[in-house]
Amino acid sequence: MMSGSKTTFFTLFGATGDLTYRKLIPALYNLHSLDLLEDGFKILAIGRRNYSTQDYHELLRPWCEKFVRTGFNERVFDAFLSRIEYVQMRFDDVNDYQGLKERFAPCSQSQHLYYLAVASSYFDVIASNLVESGCTALSRTKQCLIEKPFGTSLESAQALNDTLLKFFKEDEIYRIDHYLGKEMIQNLLSIRFENPILTPLWHHSMIDSIVVRALEEVGVESRGQYYEDFGAIKDMVQNHLFQILSLLLMKPSNNLDERIINQKEIIDHLSLYNQSTQDIILGQYTSCEQCSDFTKSYREEEHVDPQSNTETFVSIKARVNLPDYNDIKVILQTGKRTHMRSTEVLINFKGKGSTPNQMIIKISPDEGVYLRMNIKKPGPNYDVETVMMEYCQSCVYENRLNTPEAYERLLKAAIQFDRSLFTPWEMVASSWKIVDEWLAFIKLNNVPLQFYPAKTYGPTTTMEHIHEPNQ
Ligand SMILES: NC(=O)c1ccc[n+]([C@@H]2O[C@H](COP(=O)([O-])OP(=O)(O)OC[C@H]3O[C@@H](n4cnc5c(N)ncnc54)[C@H](OP(=O)(O)O)[C@@H]3O)[C@@H](O)[C@H]2O)c1
Repeated sequence: MMSGSKTTFFTLFGATGDLTYRKLIPALYNLHSLDLLEDGFKILAIGRRNYSTQDYHELLRPWCEKFVRTGFNERVFDAFLSRIEYVQMRFDDVNDYQGLKERFAPCSQSQHLYYLAVASSYFDVIASNLVESGCTALSRTKQCLIEKPFGTSLESAQALNDTLLKFFKEDEIYRIDHYLGKEMIQNLLSIRFENPILTPLWHHSMIDSIVVRALEEVGVESRGQYYEDFGAIKDMVQNHLFQILSLLLMKPSNNLDERIINQKEIIDHLSLYNQSTQDIILGQYTSCEQCSDFTKSYREEEHVDPQSNTETFVSIKARVNLPDYNDIKVILQTGKRTHMRSTEVLINFKGKGSTPNQMIIKISPDEGVYLRMNIKKPGPNYDVETVMMEYCQSCVYENRLNTPEAYERLLKAAIQFDRSLFTPWEMVASSWKIVDEWLAFIKLNNVPLQFYPAKTYGPTTTMEHIHEPNQ
């Protein structure tokens, strides 16, 4: 175990939630088992349910057995549990924070991380109660880790930010976009900037189109209510897809401040490709008739309006209005209940005659980089065939074993005050501004919702976005 006299409190609001069980606790276990938590690292798990710490420990066992990356080990698990105390309180009642304060008081020079794994409507309540109750006054440093979604529009995100800034400074707010913790998202920067041969290719004279897509086989599962309020554009495009696109196209940066400016520049210059309704395809899944599973349509999901017009799939054809990229067709796609689970970037190069070259960067679940090339087929004749040059990173067992999960990486970074894996306010604001414009365009022009059966690649028109020539 790491030694040192420092106390760090990791106060976890929403300790009985899905995110905590599936992601946060396994990530903390991994960090513990890799000896990356100091001896004085304590986890206060806050919930409203009437559990003792022992009850809570028992609940954690199956989740850790199932989801830890570093291997479940009884001895390690027991030592990990000794860091965790369950604290029953209502987080919307300021009086209940006295119990927290009493726990904090003896260690007034400690580092405090407050993780809000709760619905966004509680972010401001918890932040204000932490300050009003005097909890935050007891800390040497304080950090507030906030899950997505950060607002539902630029206006609401701005209001939330203004409220949070009353209690925390910008550099104490860690806005989570867990994609930033993924191995291949980190790798986008090395692929771009450690391979000088690619530099001249990153230009509209060479690239025809870029597809950034995040497709999921799962539907909305238990999150029907949340999804009804969001839909695919707000849930995925505003944060994850914009992050990927901006990292992929931004200029090289010497430091984090520069990187933020450069990423923001890409988002600020995004627009629909032709400003036409054809630029946006909206879909909603129906059931899969031939399947034994996936028998529910979106409208039949729990907590979903049977008449709902929420999009579960979107394909947006856009462009980045900067001199180097102006003509490149940028296609942003995401959907639920599609034919495959895959997050990837396709870079389609221009080409005459032969099959165009293509670079594929696979982000998850498979990780790797692929380049489609044309070569002479072995033999006496001059025949050309297309082959894939492959680097499958996740196919190597050691790579899988050594690759931290996204949340593990994010938590480690936050503990070390490394803000590079978190979304700064400027990026959030720029992203919502564009998404607000696109949503207004959809409303004004009545962009139709098209239905697609589960286990397909969205509405049938989706392929047109990929294959139609630039116009
Ligand atoms: N789940 C994911 O994969 C995921 C992914 C990305 C972002 N997020 C975000 O992470 C946050 C948490 O998501 P989740 O899926 O974990 O939600 P969840 O399963 O609904 O859990 C919410 C947690 O908040 C607690 N809670 C709710 N209202 C409360 C109240 N009035 N007083 C005290 N506790 C209350 C719940 O306690 P009870 O158990 O007692 O109800 C539970 O511990 C949300 O902002 C979500 O958008 C989640």
